[in-house]
Amino acid sequence: MMDASRQGSAVGFEGIHKAFGDKSVLEGIDLEVAPGETMVILGSSGCGKSVLVGMLVGLLRPDRGVVRVEGQDVTGFLHDEDWHPIWLRTGFLFQGAALFDSMSVRENVAFPLRQHTRLGEAEIGARVEEILSWIELGGAADKMPSELSGGMQKRVGLARTIALEPSLVIYDEPTTGLDPLTSDTISDLIRRLQKERAVTSVVVTHDVRCAFLVADRLAMIDAGRILVSGPCEEIRNTQVPKLRAFLYG
Ligand SMILES: Nc1ncnc2c1ncn2[C@@H]1O[C@H](COP(=O)(O)OP(=O)(O)O)[C@@H](O)[C@H]1O
Ligand SMILES: [Mg+2]
Repeated sequence: MMDASRQGSAVGFEGIHKAFGDKSVLEGIDLEVAPGETMVILGSSGCGKSVLVGMLVGLLRPDRGVVRVEGQDVTGFLHDEDWHPIWLRTGFLFQGAALFDSMSVRENVAFPLRQHTRLGEAEIGARVEEILSWIELGGAADKMPSELSGGMQKRVGLARTIALEPSLVIYDEPTTGLDPLTSDTISDLIRRLQKERAVTSVVVTHDVRCAFLVADRLAMIDAGRILVSGPCEEIRNTQVPKLRAFLYG
């Protein structure tokens, strides 16, 4: 089943419409993300980026259109049981993803493993150590979240997000609120995760620097639709005025 689905797109949006009351947000989004690819979704604040990616994990449903995750049509999924297999394979790093304040870094990262696997304590411990060292947080394992900088907290959030070894990771504004240097280390981790662990990534951001550091392709949402999409170089050299204005101010 996985083999067949992996030949197609990892994520697909087809004709997605979404309104809240009489306020129309998305008006026909079409976008495909290939397996192993990093797709960056750009757009000004409030254009519907979070709404769109929320549909990949069932936070919201489209009014019209089809959402596919790893080849599977998830549009009609209503119940947690429907979503469960998708949740197990999908990591979602929310904007401002909160860590559990009362748990150490190690316990935060172990949490999804305890929750969703039957791994024994020794295996969980080994997995957590491996992830923390991969993400260069080994020395912080026993610290509490309140003892960490914003950038370190973000890395712990990322470690927790990838604990279940997802094949798809969705990042919502991963660098917001971080200084430029720290932002670059997060962008670097997103890239490494894709390269070394072959994950498909969807990155929502309005941070142009992060976007170009991580992207294979980029797409810009404007007025409820994909205004432009394409590979990095094409987007860098775009002649579309709205996209140029977004990228270069
Ligand atoms: N649950 C909701 N109820 C009503 N309006 C919402 C809801 N979620 C998002 N919106 C509205 O949809 C628009 C797009 O939101 P969002 O996707 O969060 O934008 P962004 O591109 O900044 O992530 C915003 O105007 C927001 O207020
Ligand atoms: Mg958002």
